[in-house]
Amino acid sequence: MKGIILAGGHATRLRPLTKMTSKQLLPVYNKPMIYYPLTTLLNAGIKEILLIIAPEYAGHFLHLLGSGREFGPDVKFSYEIQDSPRGLADAFIVGENFIGDESVAMILGDNIFEHDFSEDIRTFERGGRIFAIEVPDPERFGVVEFDENNKVISIEEKPKVPKSRFAIPGLYIFDNRVVDFAKGVKPSARGEIEIVDLHRRYLDLGELDVRRVEGKWFDAGTFDSLLDAGNFLREKENGAGK
Ligand code: TTP
Repeated sequence: MKGIILAGGHATRLRPLTKMTSKQLLPVYNKPMIYYPLTTLLNAGIKEILLIIAPEYAGHFLHLLGSGREFGPDVKFSYEIQDSPRGLADAFIVGENFIGDESVAMILGDNIFEHDFSEDIRTFERGGRIFAIEVPDPERFGVVEFDENNKVISIEEKPKVPKSRFAIPGLYIFDNRVVDFAKGVKPSARGEIEIVDLHRRYLDLGELDVRRVEGKWFDAGTFDSLLDAGNFLREKENGAGK
């Protein structure tokens, strides 16, 4: 399985910090943010990773991450430029050549997970596999509703009135059909090609598996969540070091 880190975007909510570099390169405690999603993929056994980046700060990523060899002898990074932030589903269009005929795990460059995805990735065969986590503010995210048998009933993007507290965090596993499915997604009212349309496509086919994630999860895209993530990681590192 191949891995993609989606690390473009405008990061308007973190201005002025993001007027001088990319959000995904800002420090989260003692590391640049992108190290966390990168480590999530590497720890899950994914060695071939595509970084999708915006043109403005592309050089910063190359300087920091290079070929990938520093992260392991069989680790290899590739890079693609996303000219403008067209939406999360665009990762599978920009990444088409890299994906080739394999399946793919895509993680958002501002997502920090404690969960170990090794088993989720190792056991993946076909369809789509996404995740759910209970949060206090589901209206900020894609929201998944389950029935009493844990079967998915609905998936909505940033609903004003969420039907559950289960948010869909930013790691998604899809089989190779995702490239064609992404090409068929029409832009939403906010002008983006939405990843929920891919989730719904696999759901309609009866091939969407939604699993729970363990531990903490941060989407570090706001000042508060960036600070919360940094504070959490400081406590975790210091606690583990003593
Ligand atoms: P968002 O946080 O939704 O968007 P953003 O980073 O542009 O921030 P803001 O809303 O503050 O303007 O994006 C989630 C992640 O996906 C983030 O790491 C950026 C990345 N992204 C892309 O690389 N390309 C895209 O087209 C989009 C929409 C997001």
